[in-house]
Amino acid sequence: EAAEKGGYPHFMLKEIHEQPTALRATIGPHVEDGLPQLGVDALTDEMLCGIRNIHIVACGTAMHAGMVGKTAIERFARVPVDVDIASEFRYRDPILSQDDLVIIISQSGETLDTLAALKLAKERGAKTLAVVNVVGSSIARAADWVIYTHAGPEIAVASTKAYSVQLAVMYLFALRLSLAKKTQPEEEIRRLTAELQRIPDQLAPLLSNCNEIKYLASQFMNSDDLFFMGRGFDYALSLEGSLKLKEISYVHSEAYAAGELKHGTISLIVNGTPVVALATQKNVYEKALSNVKEVKTRGGRVILLCKENAPVPEDVADFVVRLPEFEDIFMPMLMIVPLQLFAYYMSVLRGCDVDKPRNLAKSVTVE
Ligand code: G6P
Repeated sequence: EAAEKGGYPHFMLKEIHEQPTALRATIGPHVEDGLPQLGVDALTDEMLCGIRNIHIVACGTAMHAGMVGKTAIERFARVPVDVDIASEFRYRDPILSQDDLVIIISQSGETLDTLAALKLAKERGAKTLAVVNVVGSSIARAADWVIYTHAGPEIAVASTKAYSVQLAVMYLFALRLSLAKKTQPEEEIRRLTAELQRIPDQLAPLLSNCNEIKYLASQFMNSDDLFFMGRGFDYALSLEGSLKLKEISYVHSEAYAAGELKHGTISLIVNGTPVVALATQKNVYEKALSNVKEVKTRGGRVILLCKENAPVPEDVADFVVRLPEFEDIFMPMLMIVPLQLFAYYMSVLRGCDVDKPRNLAKSVTVE
């Protein structure tokens, strides 16, 4: 097993570091002459233009990738997108028609609720596209069309590289749909596709930044509760950061849309309450900072994650983690690295079984 870990103490850390490679393998085959392509013959411009509604259905981390996908698809291609938890979708008598596309996301391709949701979508006449990592898995076989992610085998129960490549496919799909629907100029789609291809290189400084994140984990390792907050893409990432943390370090955590704090959660913020605030999006940056200030005023102990050159007033945060300057819409793909590392080091420092957390399974094939 030591050999399989390639010199890393845990599979999770190895898989976090494999993200640039996994992203290159996933993005590369989907760019042709500088433009996004899905590699699915049936998904012609005509077929894509006929899609009226998109439903993204998945469980766990894959569902969180779908939340990023929703924002990207709606922003680029202006098609309405719902994101659903598979176990909710399948029992909710969903409204579907042949103009609907159901995108099923699954690392393993074997999650029972996700597979059942896919079968229901087909029965109701919707078109189905699976985004799957394991070739030939049940979900890959059952869907009308498949786009494979190329994360390679993921051993650690907590999903890391599989999430990153799911995000990449969500962006590729959003760009391709936008190209078909002409909602963005072709030149802009070319530019964004080129930026997407640059992301694997942007991860290097984040991955070599382990000591900073390890230090932060050492400062927060004895916390009983920890809150994550953000707006827009940063909210979707807050959910994933919070899930990673609780899965493997057993620290109770909640993620909040920052604007929603004052509708309840802020009553939980007292002197010393740890809060991880994500603020990478220019359109809501000031709003996000004012939410951080609200937390700080009540004694919150804040880690702020923001871009390299973002203005941060003094006394807003106790710790500031700077991310490379990059296109706002792609910041989720950078942000995820420090969040994964934070969860990882919290788990290590608390003496937890990082790769095999209690009660969890890599693939859930029962209801
Ligand atoms: C399990 C795993 C999670 C994963 C979820 C969905 O709960 O522990 O890491 O996100 O299943 O799995 P899938 O294989 O469908 O992506």
